[in-house]
Amino acid sequence: MTAIDQAVAIDADKLQEFVFKAVGEVGATLNTALVVMGDKLGLYRALAGAGPLSPAELAERTGTAERYVREWLNAQAAGDFVSYDPDSGRYTLAPEQAVALTDASSMAYLPGFFQIALGSVLDSPKIADAARTGAGYGWHEHVHDVHEGCERFFRPGYNANLTSAWLPALDGVVAKLETGAIVADVGCGHGASTILMAQAYPNSTFVGSDYHDASIETARHNAKEAGVAGRVTFDITPASGYSGTGYDLVTMFDCLHDMGDPVGAARHVRSTLKPDGTWMIVEPQAGDRVEENLNPVGRAYYAFSTLLCTPASLSQEVGLALGAQAGEARIADVVEAGGFTRFRRVAETPFNAVFEARP
Ligand SMILES: C[S@@+](CC[C@H](N)C(=O)[O-])C[C@H]1O[C@@H](n2cnc3c(N)ncnc32)[C@H](O)[C@@H]1O
Repeated sequence: MTAIDQAVAIDADKLQEFVFKAVGEVGATLNTALVVMGDKLGLYRALAGAGPLSPAELAERTGTAERYVREWLNAQAAGDFVSYDPDSGRYTLAPEQAVALTDASSMAYLPGFFQIALGSVLDSPKIADAARTGAGYGWHEHVHDVHEGCERFFRPGYNANLTSAWLPALDGVVAKLETGAIVADVGCGHGASTILMAQAYPNSTFVGSDYHDASIETARHNAKEAGVAGRVTFDITPASGYSGTGYDLVTMFDCLHDMGDPVGAARHVRSTLKPDGTWMIVEPQAGDRVEENLNPVGRAYYAFSTLLCTPASLSQEVGLALGAQAGEARIADVVEAGGFTRFRRVAETPFNAVFEARP
């Protein structure tokens, strides 16, 4: 008898249930590409508030080909992203879906989430290769959809929480920002958080930095467009060596766990802060134990961690690979090893935990 013959008997109902669950998973995976397609072609924007539309009407309004649009609409209807009326042959985007799929100012805005997911999937063969050897794969090596999707995914949460909840939760920081503080935003990517803070606190100056040159170019462009370039500079430097000292506030948004040497970065933050300065660390929401993260948000984050965060850290010196679900206790260890004596959780959302570290 082989090992398989000796295995426990298979429950046919459970097997069938799992196969049907997998059908849903495959449909959802493919829909990631269809959502990005709908976003890029303006299909959701044309549907938003338009009432019921036929494929030909939607194609006409978006300058696209009716045959593709019809197939895309049927996939959207099968996945409950739009509703279908068989009598009229028309499709409708509900107001709630219109907000989530087209309103970039809403906290519920989703296209960036799908865009970074699609970029991650496109690069997954490289990650599978790296997983054979334990090699890393740098953030800078990914397709553009990862970088742009990241900014578009995180920005709505920063818009909704950063100046209204997260900064006010830090001890005495808002008063300093209002009077005139010097702030370093490390691992700033496209600079969404840096620019938002600069717009909210016109008496303060901001230095954004990131090791990824193309992200910094985009951040500079975005700062000019936002009219804050006079008080915001962006440097291409790793977190372990960004320039300047005497900072009132150092911020890291969703990037500490991506770094190869977060303890080295923490030491550098400690050395560049004023004695009464503050380090704000925004990390993905996570419990300390695996079982606390076995939920839909944890699932997405463990997947991003496998495809983006863990390889990013492994591609750098030290390669600590905290992962996107490191949890508060691991972050506290890093902060303490960096020479900070005070650490507390000050705010959270379903997606993010916000920590304050003080010298
Ligand atoms: C998930 S993205 C977050 C970007 C940005 N903070 C945001 O919230 O949109 C992680 C960022 O960390 C940056 N990064 C990774 N390792 C770094 C390092 N050692 N030094 C500086 N930046 C780093 C990446 O280039 C990337 O821009």
